[in-house]
Amino acid sequence: MHFDLFSLLPEVFPPYLNSSMMKRAQEKGLLSFGVHNIRDWTQDKHHVTDDNPYGGGGGMIMKPEPIFDAVEDVIGSPPDCPIILLTPQGRVFNQDEAQRLAREPRLALLCGRYEGVDERVRAHLVTDEISIGDYVLTGGELPALILIDALTRLIPGVLGAENGAANDSHATGLLEGAHYTRPAEYRGWDVPAILRSGDHGKVAQWRREQALIRTFERRPEMLEKTELSKKDKVFLEKIKKGKA
Ligand code: ADE
Repeated sequence: MHFDLFSLLPEVFPPYLNSSMMKRAQEKGLLSFGVHNIRDWTQDKHHVTDDNPYGGGGGMIMKPEPIFDAVEDVIGSPPDCPIILLTPQGRVFNQDEAQRLAREPRLALLCGRYEGVDERVRAHLVTDEISIGDYVLTGGELPALILIDALTRLIPGVLGAENGAANDSHATGLLEGAHYTRPAEYRGWDVPAILRSGDHGKVAQWRREQALIRTFERRPEMLEKTELSKKDKVFLEKIKKGKA
Protein backbone atom coordinates (compact mmCIF):
# COMPACT_ATOMS: atom_id res chain seq x y z
CA MET A 1 0.00 0.00 0.00
CA HIS A 2 1.29 3.44 -0.88
CA PHE A 3 0.49 6.69 0.94
CA ASP A 4 1.16 10.16 -0.42
CA LEU A 5 1.18 12.74 2.36
CA PHE A 6 0.66 16.41 1.59
CA SER A 7 1.53 18.75 4.43
CA LEU A 8 3.19 22.00 5.49
CA LEU A 9 5.04 20.07 8.23
CA PRO A 10 6.52 17.12 6.36
CA GLU A 11 9.35 16.75 8.87
CA VAL A 12 6.99 15.31 11.49
CA PHE A 13 6.35 12.10 9.54
CA PRO A 14 9.66 10.20 9.10
CA PRO A 15 10.41 9.57 12.80
CA TYR A 16 7.16 7.69 13.28
CA LEU A 17 6.89 6.11 9.83
CA ASN A 18 10.43 4.78 10.06
CA SER A 19 9.97 3.09 13.44
CA SER A 20 8.87 -0.33 14.57
CA MET A 21 6.02 -1.98 12.68
CA MET A 22 5.90 0.58 9.89
CA LYS A 23 9.60 0.35 9.31
CA ARG A 24 9.37 -3.43 9.01
CA ALA A 25 6.38 -3.18 6.68
CA GLN A 26 8.41 -0.87 4.42
CA GLU A 27 11.39 -3.23 4.50
CA LYS A 28 9.09 -6.09 3.47
CA GLY A 29 7.83 -4.03 0.53
CA LEU A 30 4.27 -3.96 1.90
CA LEU A 31 4.18 -0.24 2.55
CA SER A 32 5.64 2.89 1.00
CA PHE A 33 5.30 6.63 1.48
CA GLY A 34 5.75 9.81 -0.46
CA VAL A 35 6.00 12.84 1.85
CA HIS A 36 5.35 16.10 0.03
CA ASN A 37 5.77 19.65 1.24
CA ILE A 38 2.91 21.72 -0.16
CA ARG A 39 5.18 24.77 0.08
CA ASP A 40 7.31 23.32 -2.74
CA TRP A 41 4.41 24.03 -5.11
CA THR A 42 4.11 27.75 -4.32
CA GLN A 43 5.00 30.09 -7.21
CA ASP A 44 5.67 33.36 -5.36
CA LYS A 45 8.95 34.67 -3.93
CA HIS A 46 7.88 34.21 -0.30
CA HIS A 47 6.37 30.75 -0.73
CA VAL A 48 3.06 31.79 0.79
CA THR A 49 0.61 28.96 1.47
CA ASP A 50 -2.12 30.78 3.41
CA ASP A 51 -4.10 33.99 3.28
CA ASN A 52 -6.84 35.94 5.09
CA PRO A 53 -10.42 34.74 4.71
CA TYR A 54 -12.72 36.65 2.35
CA GLY A 55 -15.36 38.44 4.39
CA GLY A 56 -13.03 38.90 7.33
CA GLY A 57 -12.86 36.94 10.54
CA GLY A 58 -9.99 35.34 12.36
CA GLY A 59 -7.56 32.71 11.24
CA MET A 60 -5.75 32.02 8.02
CA ILE A 61 -6.97 29.81 5.20
CA MET A 62 -4.74 27.51 3.15
CA LYS A 63 -4.63 28.76 -0.44
CA PRO A 64 -5.96 26.46 -3.15
CA GLU A 65 -3.23 26.80 -5.82
CA PRO A 66 -0.29 25.02 -4.16
CA ILE A 67 -2.57 22.26 -2.88
CA PHE A 68 -4.11 21.57 -6.32
CA ASP A 69 -0.69 21.76 -7.98
CA ALA A 70 0.96 19.42 -5.46
CA VAL A 71 -1.76 16.78 -5.60
CA GLU A 72 -2.18 16.93 -9.37
CA ASP A 73 1.57 16.73 -9.93
CA VAL A 74 2.06 13.74 -7.66
CA ILE A 75 -1.20 11.85 -8.14
CA GLY A 76 -2.23 12.99 -11.62
CA SER A 77 -5.44 14.50 -12.87
CA PRO A 78 -8.03 13.08 -12.69
CA PRO A 79 -6.73 11.25 -9.61
CA ASP A 80 -6.78 7.46 -9.62
CA CYS A 81 -6.94 7.09 -5.84
CA PRO A 82 -8.95 8.58 -2.94
CA ILE A 83 -7.79 12.05 -1.90
CA ILE A 84 -8.57 12.28 1.80
CA LEU A 85 -8.67 15.55 3.70
CA LEU A 86 -8.10 15.19 7.44
CA THR A 87 -10.51 17.57 9.10
CA PRO A 88 -12.66 17.71 12.24
CA GLN A 89 -15.62 18.17 9.87
CA GLY A 90 -15.10 14.74 8.28
CA ARG A 91 -16.75 11.37 8.82
CA VAL A 92 -15.54 10.01 12.15
CA PHE A 93 -12.91 7.32 11.62
CA ASN A 94 -13.52 3.85 13.01
CA GLN A 95 -12.44 0.25 12.45
CA ASP A 96 -14.98 -0.37 9.64
CA GLU A 97 -13.62 2.65 7.82
CA ALA A 98 -10.06 1.40 8.40
CA GLN A 99 -10.98 -1.96 6.88
CA ARG A 100 -12.60 -0.33 3.87
CA LEU A 101 -9.63 1.98 3.21
CA ALA A 102 -7.03 -0.77 3.77
CA ARG A 103 -8.27 -2.39 0.52
CA GLU A 104 -7.03 0.60 -1.50
CA PRO A 105 -3.58 0.20 -3.08
CA ARG A 106 -2.91 3.93 -2.81
CA LEU A 107 -4.22 6.83 -0.72
CA ALA A 108 -3.43 10.54 -0.75
CA LEU A 109 -3.72 12.25 2.63
CA LEU A 110 -4.05 16.00 2.74
CA CYS A 111 -3.24 17.59 6.09
CA GLY A 112 -4.82 20.96 6.78
CA ARG A 113 -3.31 23.62 9.07
CA TYR A 114 -4.61 26.98 10.26
CA GLU A 115 -8.38 27.52 10.18
CA GLY A 116 -8.82 25.19 7.25
CA VAL A 117 -8.48 24.94 3.50
CA ASP A 118 -10.13 27.00 0.79
CA GLU A 119 -13.55 25.48 0.09
CA ARG A 120 -12.63 24.82 -3.56
CA VAL A 121 -10.16 22.18 -2.36
CA ARG A 122 -12.99 20.37 -0.61
CA ALA A 123 -15.39 20.81 -3.49
CA HIS A 124 -13.17 19.96 -6.46
CA LEU A 125 -10.09 18.02 -5.33
CA VAL A 126 -10.84 16.02 -2.23
CA THR A 127 -12.85 12.79 -2.52
CA ASP A 128 -13.23 11.98 1.21
CA GLU A 129 -13.10 13.92 4.48
CA ILE A 130 -12.14 12.09 7.66
CA SER A 131 -12.03 13.16 11.30
CA ILE A 132 -10.32 11.10 13.97
CA GLY A 133 -12.73 12.29 16.67
CA ASP A 134 -14.81 15.15 17.99
CA TYR A 135 -11.99 17.41 19.11
CA VAL A 136 -9.89 19.94 17.25
CA LEU A 137 -6.15 19.60 16.74
CA THR A 138 -3.77 22.16 15.25
CA GLY A 139 -3.44 20.22 12.02
CA GLY A 140 -4.11 17.02 10.13
CA GLU A 141 -0.64 15.51 10.57
CA LEU A 142 -1.34 13.48 13.71
CA PRO A 143 -4.72 12.35 12.34
CA ALA A 144 -2.94 11.21 9.14
CA LEU A 145 -0.45 9.18 11.19
CA ILE A 146 -3.28 7.63 13.17
CA LEU A 147 -5.08 6.65 9.99
CA ILE A 148 -1.88 5.18 8.50
CA ASP A 149 -1.17 3.26 11.68
CA ALA A 150 -4.66 1.76 11.81
CA LEU A 151 -4.52 0.76 8.13
CA THR A 152 -0.99 -0.61 8.20
CA ARG A 153 -1.78 -3.24 10.78
CA LEU A 154 -4.60 -4.51 8.51
CA ILE A 155 -2.34 -5.06 5.49
CA PRO A 156 -1.85 -8.83 5.08
CA GLY A 157 1.67 -9.80 6.16
CA VAL A 158 2.34 -6.80 8.38
CA LEU A 159 1.35 -8.45 11.64
CA GLY A 160 2.46 -12.03 12.19
CA ALA A 161 -0.26 -14.71 12.10
CA GLU A 162 0.11 -15.14 15.86
CA ASN A 163 -0.84 -11.60 16.77
CA GLY A 164 -2.97 -10.78 13.76
CA ALA A 165 -5.69 -8.17 13.69
CA ALA A 166 -8.63 -10.59 13.54
CA ASN A 167 -9.29 -10.56 17.30
CA ASP A 168 -8.63 -6.87 17.89
CA SER A 169 -11.03 -4.85 19.96
CA HIS A 170 -13.56 -3.45 17.45
CA ALA A 171 -12.59 -5.89 14.66
CA THR A 172 -14.84 -8.52 16.24
CA GLY A 173 -17.48 -6.01 17.24
CA LEU A 174 -16.50 -6.62 20.88
CA LEU A 175 -13.80 -5.18 23.09
CA GLU A 176 -11.03 -7.65 23.82
CA GLY A 177 -10.92 -9.13 27.30
CA ALA A 178 -7.99 -9.17 29.71
CA HIS A 179 -4.49 -10.31 28.69
CA TYR A 180 -1.76 -11.58 30.98
CA THR A 181 1.88 -12.51 30.64
CA ARG A 182 4.50 -13.83 33.07
CA PRO A 183 4.89 -13.84 36.04
CA ALA A 184 1.95 -16.09 36.99
CA GLU A 185 1.76 -14.33 40.33
CA TYR A 186 2.67 -10.69 40.88
CA ARG A 187 2.28 -8.93 44.24
CA GLY A 188 -0.25 -11.58 45.18
CA TRP A 189 -2.32 -11.05 42.00
CA ASP A 190 -2.72 -14.34 40.14
CA VAL A 191 -3.22 -14.99 36.45
CA PRO A 192 -6.59 -16.80 36.07
CA ALA A 193 -5.95 -20.54 36.32
CA ILE A 194 -7.87 -21.31 33.13
CA LEU A 195 -5.29 -19.43 31.03
CA ARG A 196 -2.60 -21.72 32.41
CA SER A 197 -4.65 -24.90 32.03
CA GLY A 198 -3.49 -25.67 28.48
CA ASP A 199 -7.10 -26.42 27.48
CA HIS A 200 -7.43 -24.38 24.27
CA GLY A 201 -11.19 -24.85 23.99
CA LYS A 202 -11.78 -23.60 27.51
CA VAL A 203 -9.36 -20.69 27.01
CA ALA A 204 -11.22 -19.64 23.83
CA GLN A 205 -14.57 -19.81 25.63
CA TRP A 206 -13.21 -17.84 28.60
CA ARG A 207 -11.82 -15.18 26.27
CA ARG A 208 -15.15 -14.86 24.49
CA GLU A 209 -16.93 -14.47 27.81
CA GLN A 210 -14.44 -11.89 29.06
CA ALA A 211 -14.91 -9.92 25.84
CA LEU A 212 -18.69 -9.99 26.36
CA ILE A 213 -18.33 -8.85 29.98
CA ARG A 214 -15.96 -6.04 29.11
CA THR A 215 -18.08 -4.84 26.21
CA PHE A 216 -21.23 -4.97 28.34
CA GLU A 217 -19.55 -2.94 31.09
CA ARG A 218 -17.79 -0.35 28.92
CA ARG A 219 -19.52 -0.12 25.55
CA PRO A 220 -22.95 -1.78 25.82
CA GLU A 221 -24.14 -0.09 22.61
CA MET A 222 -21.63 -2.18 20.64
CA LEU A 223 -23.56 -5.33 21.55
CA GLU A 224 -26.56 -4.11 19.55
CA LYS A 225 -24.57 -4.14 16.32
CA THR A 226 -22.61 -7.36 16.81
CA GLU A 227 -23.46 -10.84 15.65
CA LEU A 228 -23.87 -12.98 18.76
CA SER A 229 -24.20 -16.77 18.94
CA LYS A 230 -26.86 -18.51 21.00
CA LYS A 231 -24.17 -19.28 23.57
CA ASP A 232 -23.15 -15.60 23.66
CA LYS A 233 -26.76 -14.55 24.25
CA VAL A 234 -27.21 -17.02 27.09
CA PHE A 235 -24.00 -15.74 28.69
CA LEU A 236 -25.09 -12.13 28.20
CA GLU A 237 -28.32 -12.83 30.08
CA LYS A 238 -26.19 -14.17 32.93
CA ILE A 239 -24.11 -10.96 32.90
CA LYS A 240 -27.26 -8.83 33.00
CA LYS A 241 -28.53 -10.76 36.01
CA GLY A 242 -25.17 -10.32 37.72
CA LYS A 243 -24.58 -14.08 37.63
CA ALA A 244 -21.59 -14.23 35.28
N1 ADE B 1 -7.52 18.39 12.06
C1 ADE B 1 -7.76 19.04 13.20
N2 ADE B 1 -8.51 18.31 14.04
C2 ADE B 1 -8.76 17.13 13.40
C3 ADE B 1 -9.50 15.97 13.73
N3 ADE B 1 -10.14 15.84 14.88
N4 ADE B 1 -9.55 14.98 12.83
C4 ADE B 1 -8.92 15.11 11.64
N5 ADE B 1 -8.23 16.17 11.28
C5 ADE B 1 -8.15 17.19 12.13
